[in-house]
Amino acid sequence: MNFQTEIETLIRARYPILYIITNEEMRVQNLLVEIAAKRQKKVFEWTFSNGIVPAGTSIQSQKNRNASTKDPLAALDQVIEQVEPAIYLFKDFHPFLTKNNFAIIRKLKDIAQHLKNSFKTIVLISPVMEIPAELDKEITVINFPQPTKEDLGAMLDKIVAEVSDRKQIQIDLDDQGRDRLLQAALGLTLGEAENVFAKIIVQEQRLSGDYVNEVFAEKQQIIRKSGLLEYYKTEDDFASVGGLTVLKDWLNKRSVAFTDEARAFGLPAPKGILLLGVQGCGKSLCAKAVSRLWQLPLLRFDMGRMFGSLVGSSEENVRRAIAVAESVAPAVLWVDEIDKAFVGSQSSGATDGGTTARVFGTFLTWLSEKSAPVFVVTTANDVSQLPPELLRKGRLDEIFYVDLPNEEEREEIFRIHLAKRGRDPKNFDLKAMVETSKDLSGAEIEEAIISALYDAFYTKQELATGHVLATLGQTVPLAKTMSEKISAQRNWAAGRARNASIAHPVKNEAEARRMEL
Ligand SMILES: Nc1ncnc2c1ncn2[C@@H]1O[C@H](COP(=O)(O)OP(=O)(O)O)[C@@H](O)[C@H]1O
Ligand SMILES: [Mg+2]
Repeated sequence: MNFQTEIETLIRARYPILYIITNEEMRVQNLLVEIAAKRQKKVFEWTFSNGIVPAGTSIQSQKNRNASTKDPLAALDQVIEQVEPAIYLFKDFHPFLTKNNFAIIRKLKDIAQHLKNSFKTIVLISPVMEIPAELDKEITVINFPQPTKEDLGAMLDKIVAEVSDRKQIQIDLDDQGRDRLLQAALGLTLGEAENVFAKIIVQEQRLSGDYVNEVFAEKQQIIRKSGLLEYYKTEDDFASVGGLTVLKDWLNKRSVAFTDEARAFGLPAPKGILLLGVQGCGKSLCAKAVSRLWQLPLLRFDMGRMFGSLVGSSEENVRRAIAVAESVAPAVLWVDEIDKAFVGSQSSGATDGGTTARVFGTFLTWLSEKSAPVFVVTTANDVSQLPPELLRKGRLDEIFYVDLPNEEEREEIFRIHLAKRGRDPKNFDLKAMVETSKDLSGAEIEEAIISALYDAFYTKQELATGHVLATLGQTVPLAKTMSEKISAQRNWAAGRARNASIAHPVKNEAEARRMEL
C-alpha cells in the first residue's frame, strides 16, 4: 500500500489522531490537501506562530492569523467546535506533548473520543517521536517515506517546465542524464533536492546529467550537517592487517557479491557482520579495509553521536542516515563501537524515555528488512552491553570474535608495523619480539614499536631489536588488567561466534580442563 492510500484509509476508518514522523512538512501538507479534495474535506494547519488557519495560507497575509488559537488548548477547542469535515495538521505540537503538559494530554484524550464520531482528523507532524504513554492508544504513528526517484522526478520536471520559456537557460536532459541526476539526489528530502537543482540552474544557466557532482557535493554537505554519517577516506587495506585469516577469507570470498552476476547466480547480497572482541586487535582496521577490498564507498555511522545531545537522537535522524546510505549503495556502512551507544542506557525506558531503545529499534528493523546492497560492519568491544536483538539470526551474516593475536599473528603484525616505518623486518629478531609480546594486542605492539623509535632517535641510534624488546618489556598488556572481562567474553563467544583467526571454534575456558603441569 502506498503512503497516500495508507493515510487515506486511516482517515476513512476514523483513526482520530495520526502522528507522522518527518521534517518534510510541505510534502505531507500537499498530500493531505490531495486526500481532502478527494473526500470533500477542508484542511487546516496549526502553527505556534499563526494558530489555526486554512492550509496554505501565505505567511504574509496578516488578516488570516488566528491569534486566539495560538494557544494549543484553544486550538484543540476550536477543533471540537468546528463541525465541517476537515483534516487538522498540527505542525509544532510535539513540544506540548511532553510529560508535564497534563492539560493538553487530557484534552487530546477527550478529543480522540469525540473525533471518532465526527468527520474530523488531527494529524500531528514532527521530526521526533514524542508520545506520552497516556496517549499510546489514541495516536497512530506513521513513518513518512523518503522521496522516491519518481517523487524527485516529478519535482524535477516541474522545475524544468517552470524555466522552459527562459531562453538563456539551457536544459539538456535526456532520459539517461535525468536518471543520473535523480539517482544522485536520492537520500535528500524533496526540499533539499529542489534547492540543489535550482542552485545549479541559477549558477550554470543550464542543467544536464553532467551536474551529478554538484548534487553529490550538496549531499555530502547535508550528510556532514546531519552529523551522523561521514564519508570515510581510508588508506588501510588488508595488507596492513596481520592475522585474522578466517575473517579475511570470508570477506575475500564475497568481494564480488554485489555484482549482477552474483545475483544471477542466485547469491543473496551479504547483509553484514559483527566484529566483537578485545580492544586494539584490529576490528576498526578491518572495517576500513573491507571498503578497500570490495572497492565500495565507506560510510561511517556515528552511534555515540546519535545518542549524544549534539544531534538529538530521533527516529527521523536514523532513517535519514539509512536513506543516505542506501542512496549511495552499493556501499559499506561502518557502525563503530556499537556497544558504546548502550552504556548506561540498558534500561533505556528509565533514563531517556525509551528513546535509545526506539531509535535502535529503527536501525534493527532496517537491518533485517533492507533490500539495498549496503553491507554493515559493526564493531563492539563489550558484548555484555549489546542488546540481544542485534545478535539474533537473520540480522547479520556472521559474528566474528577477534581475539588477542597468537604467535604467528604477532609476527605478521611486527612485520607490518616495522615495514610501515621504513624498516626491513629482516634486520630484526622477530622470534624474540614474538616471545616478549605475549598477550599484547596489535595496537600495543604498534605503540611499542613507536616508543622504541623514539628511544632510538633520542640516543641517535638506528632502531634495533633491543629497543623494541625494551619497550615491550615495559608494556603492561591491557589483557592483563582486564583478564576477567576478556575471559568472560571468550566464554560468551564460544559457540556463538566464529573465531576470526583460526578455523576452529572459540574455546570455552570454563569447559577446558585446568591441568597443573
Ligand atoms: N591485526 C592487526 N594487524 C595490524 N595492525 C593492527 C592489528 N590490530 C591492531 N592493529 C593496530 O592497532 C590500531 C588500532 O586497532 P583498531 O582496529 O582500532 O582496534 P579495535 O577497533 O579492535 O579496538 C590499528 O590502527 C593498527 O595500527
Ligand atoms: Mg575500534
